[in-house]
Amino acid sequence: MSAIKAANTIIDSSSGEETNTQDFIEDLIGKMTLSEKIGQMTQYDASWDVTGPPVQKDDIDRYEKIAEGRVGAMLNILGTEATREAQKIAVENSRLGIPLLFGYDVVHGYKTMFPIPIADACSWDLTHIENATRIAATEATAAGLNWAFAPMMDISRDARWGRVMEGAGEDPYLVSKVSAARVKGFQGEDLSKPDTMAATAKHFAAYGFLNAALEYNTTEISDNTFLNQVLPPFKAAIDAGVSTVMNAFSDFNGIPVTANSYLQRDILKKELGFKGFIITDYSTISEMVVHQYAKDNKDAAYKAIIAGTDMDMESRVYENNLEALVNEGAVEEKMIDDAVRRILTLKLNLGLFDDPYRYCDESRSYLLDHVEDHHSKALEAAKSSAVLLKNDKNLLPIRKSVKTIGVIGKLADDKDAPLGSWRARTEAQSGVSILEGLQKHVPSETEILFAKGYTLSVEPPTFTQEVDLSQSDDESGFTEALEVAERSDLVLFVLGEECFQTGEGRSQTFIGLKGAQLKLLKKVYAINKNVVAIMMNGRPIAEPWLYENIPSILESWYLGSQSGNAIAELLTGKCNPSGKLALSIPRSIGQIPISYNHTRTGRPDPIPGDPNFVFWSHYSDCDKTPQYAFGHGLSYTTFEYSNLKLNTDTISMDESLTVSIEVENTGSYDGEEVVQLYINDLYSSTIRPVKELKGFEKLHFKAGEKKTVTFTIGWKDLAFYGADRIFKAEPGEFDVMVGGNSEDLLSARFELTA
Ligand code: NOJ
Repeated sequence: MSAIKAANTIIDSSSGEETNTQDFIEDLIGKMTLSEKIGQMTQYDASWDVTGPPVQKDDIDRYEKIAEGRVGAMLNILGTEATREAQKIAVENSRLGIPLLFGYDVVHGYKTMFPIPIADACSWDLTHIENATRIAATEATAAGLNWAFAPMMDISRDARWGRVMEGAGEDPYLVSKVSAARVKGFQGEDLSKPDTMAATAKHFAAYGFLNAALEYNTTEISDNTFLNQVLPPFKAAIDAGVSTVMNAFSDFNGIPVTANSYLQRDILKKELGFKGFIITDYSTISEMVVHQYAKDNKDAAYKAIIAGTDMDMESRVYENNLEALVNEGAVEEKMIDDAVRRILTLKLNLGLFDDPYRYCDESRSYLLDHVEDHHSKALEAAKSSAVLLKNDKNLLPIRKSVKTIGVIGKLADDKDAPLGSWRARTEAQSGVSILEGLQKHVPSETEILFAKGYTLSVEPPTFTQEVDLSQSDDESGFTEALEVAERSDLVLFVLGEECFQTGEGRSQTFIGLKGAQLKLLKKVYAINKNVVAIMMNGRPIAEPWLYENIPSILESWYLGSQSGNAIAELLTGKCNPSGKLALSIPRSIGQIPISYNHTRTGRPDPIPGDPNFVFWSHYSDCDKTPQYAFGHGLSYTTFEYSNLKLNTDTISMDESLTVSIEVENTGSYDGEEVVQLYINDLYSSTIRPVKELKGFEKLHFKAGEKKTVTFTIGWKDLAFYGADRIFKAEPGEFDVMVGGNSEDLLSARFELTA
């Protein structure tokens, strides 16, 4: 058990945090001038890629700065040639020859694109998530990089936010597991190997709780939600050895997180024992002036360093102000030393002091040329990430009797959208489209008809520009699409979003289908009832008509380079869908924020006997449950759960409990099932979630196969941060629930004694 100090505790400038104290690093720090130390705390953008607003002073010669020892890291510099050139200047021309870090947003692949993170999380397959990240690191390091600005582990419960595509969903337990797997994938067993790189846990903290899901906005979040929902993934990442943490553009409790000692010093560095360094998000130090929290850049630099911010990404505020602050005695130099020590330790761990060119090895560049193994892993990942939401008439897998398949929808013929946002250095238009996948996987005697039907963006959208949807009401393709629907035994209607409708800077107030898509879908359905909807989108889409009427729906998100092949294998039954939702799909935008693990109100249910009696927690115009709940996902086979057993009905704090359940594949296909375990604390000192995921296993079952699945529960699975900020389990009764989604669960009760 451990306690966290009160919010915004003022800390002594000699923060007293423990850090690694290798002699080598101490010697080096001893030789550094103050300006060189501050140089290590400064990151410069190199503009090979644009991931933020252009920063002032672009006439500055970065190479000169590197030679002066005033730069410790760069971002958005790519390729072995460019990184080698910059590294050479740092090593050969700067006084102490300290090598640079090269950071980049390697979010779901570098050259080979894997499913976008929210899709990948829907696989609930930690091995392949780790492997996918391993491949991303292999490729990124072959391009000179040694530091990934990923994984994003913000809990996301608001589909208006464009960055839900970048996280692992709404649940702290799943996000923790996925994030730890991603950290391991980037960092491997040994950070100094040339194919591993430092990972970044971001955005600390609570960036997923932006007010009204408006990008770069402020947040409103309680300490209870922060400690119990937002913090666990960061703890898991730190336990997995994550090298760096990135803070956020937002505030916490009225204080920008960049200046928030409670978050950065008390919690991250002390309570969680984080030994790496904190990098700001893009210019968050200087943005504190715009927030009107710092009166000028100097004040911002002061507030950031006091609060434990170690490296300044791109705002150049440390570079221009920290030296004066130290010289004036406002900031103690040992605070600077602590930051520098953390940064140099990462450089040491990466092996950069042994060989600064370790990641600038041209002989590894073949790893960027369509490596077969990378693509076969991307295909496997894509197949296990798609979620079969609905299959009412068993339209899927496509039956042999289907002789003509009508494929409708602009997105079906799209080789770019499947790559998703945050696509690093993959080539535009390099994904396998759904149409291409079908042509490859559908028997040659089956006829495939195609009509584009609707339009979204006319020009291919890009990462930095707003998507132009002004033509999306165009109905000129309807006639052809309806002819295709008429002539087909089965219609595959591909719908959703342009991929750059999600990602950073892509908040939306509307989360239904844009443009003429729904109108066309309704017309198609009026002609042909055998419609399968294939969804391509980066956020949950709220569109009740679609979910209520279309008999089969496959949520594919953006599945990466191999998307079309994966979708075709799933549709044809060569592969059985096994993804489960990592976040709820709302019925309406008005339900947001929505998540399965909400807390219980005092009036959760209708008053028995009077259906119109209004005094209970509900919406008058919409069911309060989600359209599809967290953990939901179908298969072509069926699974039955029975015989939930506990080995005891009472445990003490130092004992554990074994939960077992029988799961049987009762259908006629082999398939995979994610067996999920939830708990509910029946009485507690603060209001707790109605259920919380505390374990899962993804298992393969042959048709007819039955397995007994077991889980172990100990006090830590039952513990939470109370109002006293102490992490503890409280004695009392708990329900344990097991099933294939967060709603259909078998339940048993046990007691935890003091
Ligand atoms: C801003 C984003 O919020 C962050 O996630 C990213 O790593 C940086 N830009 C650098 O590109």
